[in-house]
Amino acid sequence: MHWDCCCVCGSAVQDQACGPPVSKAGIFTVKGPGKGFKGRHDLHALSGNPQLIGIDVVGGAALLALVSVRFHGCTAIIPVNKYIVPLLTEVHSSRPQELWSCNFYTSIALTKQAPLCVGPAVQSEFSTTVALPLSNCEYFPVLEWTWPSRLYISVSKKAMCKCFMCRTCSSTAKLEFVNLETFESTLYYELASWRIPSMQRCFTLTLARRSRLLLRNKFASVHCHQSAAMSSLLINQPQYSWLKELGLSEDNLGVYNGSWGGSGEVVTSYCPANNEPIARVTQATMAEYEVTVQKAREAWKVWADIPAPKRGEIVRQIGDALRKKITTLGSLVSLEMGKIFVEGVGEVQEYVDVCDYAVGLSRMIGGPILPSERPGHALLEQWNPVGLVGIITAFNFPVAVYGWNNAIAMTCGNVCLWKGAPTTPLTSVAVTKIVAEVLEQNNLPGAICSLTCGGADIGTAMAKDERVDLLSFTGSTHVGKLVAMMVQERFGRKLLELGGNNAIIVFEDADLNLVVPSAVFASVGTAGQRCTTTRRLMLHESIHDTVVERISKAYKQVRIGDPWDPKTLYGPLHTKQAVEQYLAAIEHAKKQGGTVVCGGKVMDRPGNYVEPTIITGLPHDSPIVHTETFVPILYVLKFKTEEEAFAWNNEVKQGLSSSIFTKDMGRVFRWMGPKGSDCGIVNVNIPTSGAEIGGAFGGEKHTGGGRESGSDSWKQYMRRSTCTINYSKDLPLAQGI
Ligand code: UN1
Repeated sequence: MHWDCCCVCGSAVQDQACGPPVSKAGIFTVKGPGKGFKGRHDLHALSGNPQLIGIDVVGGAALLALVSVRFHGCTAIIPVNKYIVPLLTEVHSSRPQELWSCNFYTSIALTKQAPLCVGPAVQSEFSTTVALPLSNCEYFPVLEWTWPSRLYISVSKKAMCKCFMCRTCSSTAKLEFVNLETFESTLYYELASWRIPSMQRCFTLTLARRSRLLLRNKFASVHCHQSAAMSSLLINQPQYSWLKELGLSEDNLGVYNGSWGGSGEVVTSYCPANNEPIARVTQATMAEYEVTVQKAREAWKVWADIPAPKRGEIVRQIGDALRKKITTLGSLVSLEMGKIFVEGVGEVQEYVDVCDYAVGLSRMIGGPILPSERPGHALLEQWNPVGLVGIITAFNFPVAVYGWNNAIAMTCGNVCLWKGAPTTPLTSVAVTKIVAEVLEQNNLPGAICSLTCGGADIGTAMAKDERVDLLSFTGSTHVGKLVAMMVQERFGRKLLELGGNNAIIVFEDADLNLVVPSAVFASVGTAGQRCTTTRRLMLHESIHDTVVERISKAYKQVRIGDPWDPKTLYGPLHTKQAVEQYLAAIEHAKKQGGTVVCGGKVMDRPGNYVEPTIITGLPHDSPIVHTETFVPILYVLKFKTEEEAFAWNNEVKQGLSSSIFTKDMGRVFRWMGPKGSDCGIVNVNIPTSGAEIGGAFGGEKHTGGGRESGSDSWKQYMRRSTCTINYSKDLPLAQGI
């Protein structure tokens, strides 16, 4: 067994199968006794920590090895994680179905920062977490995930799993699963939806192994990725020095509530185009979340008293501050999210536009004065801010979606607490710096626009927190549902922007010169990672073949490259996990009868690049066609009649965006009417994506029902007071009673 460098620091690690521990640059390396061992085997004691007297491998699977660390006075079971990094080269399993009974051959490295004082309560350098005591479970006590989310998993001998996502330690049980299969897949989606990259890698591997897809090079890629985290950061390279113009540095604080802080987990942000680390952000601890909520609510007392048009003036200044940084911020979006430069700039433009919109709104928020049935009485509606608006955004629009919420919520008199995606923390920090500067220049409390970077722990806390008066969540339907239930549990308000499965329907009379670029833009744009991306293209049978041919030709001409290169039209997927999802979806589609007519492969270049893909021949109701996979795969369906096409449009669970291409005015009105599209966005002769900020944005059914941005979406950020005022000297009752 041999490897080149340590996962932790990148320094060379020498192979010593059974020799004494090797210490290099603060790394202690311990080797297992050899291939194929099973169960409890003593490894070598470590040097370097006088408290530590022994370390055993006690169980686990693949990367989730459990290690027992013995100290003077206590023993703890901890998983292989950030501190105890697996240098795993091979996995054997006699019974692949049993996660916990595989043989494995591993070695581990301990960093000096390892939370070695594991006991009932641990204060490590990176986070405050609790390792539950050994007695908690007979066989496999507890996996304590200190990295990257605080997720507690306990596993009993009957393979019944309980998953706790808690705020500080082993608090409330959040999910309970009765078998490993459910447990694993649900947990996978849960984490995937929160987009925790490192955790995703682990679970992707575990799942891959169980589905027999695991290859040696998958481990290699993880190994490389982790090593890269410790190599030089892009921010230190001259061509990325512009990042500093956004106030970013190597290490950034991820909490803002009037002052900057952050002492939670450190996350490294990676560039999807090359998987190089850009810079690091320190996320919020639960204690910091607590302080931030308190400060935000204090700030509300000031903000709510400021007249709406004056609040609008502050929002105008924010729009102007964004204008000044639009190119740099757009470039950061491109670098960190992976979308092409013009789209990166475009979404900053959306924030600017919605600021302009909100400035106008600040002089127009009004309620009706209604005729009262009683003499000497006035009946009117007054709109008031809800208070604190929690905003959880997704990786795919790391600026615009916050902007829609933030500008409107502020104008309405609310304060905001933002948690961006854990994989785009630099964008969250950079945006907040711009906004904070405006607030500070106006001598306003910075906590009006607070930020707590974090993972599922912060998201869960926001969902459960009664002090968060409205929770606006953008993300997957799966996580959205969990969030919605948590918010509903406390009768809180929620605004959900969840998944889409958007269709373009092309009729026989359509102008194909509009159809082809529209379909290409909407299915390939942002590498298929918009919630409004076209996933289903329904073609009338008379034009099916022509359109498929023209679109396939256009697909092949899409310029693929570095997203920040102005010539590039198509960039990478955001994460490696998305690449796996892309491959899995293609396999499913083939099994369900689809034919790949274009693309279908991962590209042989650094970064998470996949070929934009067109699949034909699938039945309209195949499971894969009804699934939103957040990748550039377009399913082309052939239809005969309008009735059929409208029905197919509506038969999916999601209800976000939809388009038809036709010249038939009757059809246009049928499409917009009660028996037409059931989506929130109903377009004609334009694609499903690329909505303007002036219209209300959102969708029905499993898309969540929320509306953000334009039109009267502001009402979602306010509460309505129906006021009846008696200005007479009598007291007549309503209904003549
Ligand atoms: C999203 O994908 O989450 O309509 C939002 C569009 C953009 C917004 C998309 N204006 O495609």
